[in-house]
Amino acid sequence: MKEQIEKIFPEKSEIPNPINLPFPIHQTKYLINGEILEWNGLSEQVYSPIYIKENETFENFIGSYPLMDKETSLKALVAAKNAYNNGQGEWPSMTIKQRIECIKKFTFLMREQRNEVVKLMMWEIGKSLKDSEKEFDRTIEYINDTIDALKDLDRDSSKLVIKQGIIAQIRRAPLGVVLCMGPFNYPLNETFTTLIPALTMGNTVVFKPPKLGVLLHSPLLNAYKNSFPKGVVNVIYGDGQEVVAPIMESGDINVLAFIGSCKVADILKKQHPQPHKLKSVLGLEAKNPAIILEDCDFDNVVKECITGSLSFNGQRCTALKIIFVHENIKDAFIEKFVEEVEKLVIGMPWDENVFITPLPEPNKSEHLTHYVEDAISKGAKLCNPSGGMKNKSFFFPAILSEVTEEMKIYHEEQFGPIIPIVSFTDIQKPLDYVVNSNYGQQASIFGQDSKDLAILIDTLVNQVCRVNVNAQCQRGPDVFPFTGRKDSAEGTLSVSDALRVFSIRTLVAFKENDSNKKIVTEIIQKQESNFLSTDFIL
Ligand code: G3H
Repeated sequence: MKEQIEKIFPEKSEIPNPINLPFPIHQTKYLINGEILEWNGLSEQVYSPIYIKENETFENFIGSYPLMDKETSLKALVAAKNAYNNGQGEWPSMTIKQRIECIKKFTFLMREQRNEVVKLMMWEIGKSLKDSEKEFDRTIEYINDTIDALKDLDRDSSKLVIKQGIIAQIRRAPLGVVLCMGPFNYPLNETFTTLIPALTMGNTVVFKPPKLGVLLHSPLLNAYKNSFPKGVVNVIYGDGQEVVAPIMESGDINVLAFIGSCKVADILKKQHPQPHKLKSVLGLEAKNPAIILEDCDFDNVVKECITGSLSFNGQRCTALKIIFVHENIKDAFIEKFVEEVEKLVIGMPWDENVFITPLPEPNKSEHLTHYVEDAISKGAKLCNPSGGMKNKSFFFPAILSEVTEEMKIYHEEQFGPIIPIVSFTDIQKPLDYVVNSNYGQQASIFGQDSKDLAILIDTLVNQVCRVNVNAQCQRGPDVFPFTGRKDSAEGTLSVSDALRVFSIRTLVAFKENDSNKKIVTEIIQKQESNFLSTDFIL
């Protein structure tokens, strides 16, 4: 393994042709107010987690993107504000049917960019070809599901309610200007799980791609431009302090849709001068535990814990980030787990069956090594022979046993390939961990006895927002509610919940008398209002 890791980065000639891109790619275009503009100012360099060997040196520079200034980013905000025009803009006043047409057009144009986006995803964040394709396709499916959910929502609202002498129609209305920022691990999907519902409900958007995974958004600029009225989608690039702070400080953002760290979310929220005007939709940190009971199905546990802790190298907010295993099966579990992890295929994102790939965050291998060293110095044991072996951006998964609360890895979110294992004899130990944790996203429990599982389910559902039985933690299917307690989330993001999160219930009400009945009937029959309407989208 040592030798394989030493030689993990390919020669230029070894990169398969269809994967290659004409690097460096200098992304100089941006979209504001329906215009694709050319940026001539400062730029930020983009480095890939994949190093390419050429003439005995390694290169990973793959391009650049605009480092915009405050002035330009405020122009994006003004464009979004004008497009919303206090709810009177073309986009928020459109019928749902018309908005759906725009989104469908966007989806059609987006599909044409699949190859380009997938390739850039591999190069920018090191995600495997299979997972990059999956991310793209899942996003398209998410958009289609959102359209269906919107139709359902609209159908349910296309009726009048008469109660206590009042005739009313209750619908959902947009909130205003949304600032969307997704994370690097799902740079496309998680950005779109807020961007699409925000747009669908009639909001306008300023959107900033994540710090890593920026270039992959550039093939979509034309699709935004050609699908939506001007100013509805505006894309900004650059350093958060320079381009995001002024937008938040303006007080003109109505919804902050952010997926990332608690630290950044707190800074952004505090920058807004009118906290009650701002709604936050946040996907934050997590430290999801697996709790393995003595009578579990062993093979299934090992399989689920590997995908749960190591899919995309453990860089998922839903990843299993700590494993509690019953003392009586601990040794057998570790032995099997180590055996399987050591067999995982390592390599470049395009390699067949690859599972472990290089990590995109700068200095991540060093950061992970620090966790391992801290744990070992406090009594943990490194269980697998290749654990923690590294080469530049590559880090082989490290399995740590005998982990205790004195160690950083016990509490902190590693967001990478380290699997801390804690043994227990009293089930209260993992339950106390969950109760005392700052996080509350999900948990996985593994066992066979229905009574034991039922007790755990009933305890954990009041601590986290999804309890997975005999399965790893995950977000999908995307129609299921995705949220968290404590420092893990604000707001819920399933396909249908997201439509609710980016809108507010609004109603129009009339006293039930003859003259009002006549007015209501006329408005509906003559189709004079988009809101007060019983039109039905089929
Ligand atoms: O990073 C967090 C993602 O929402 C997780 O999604 O469970 O489908 O990988 P996933």
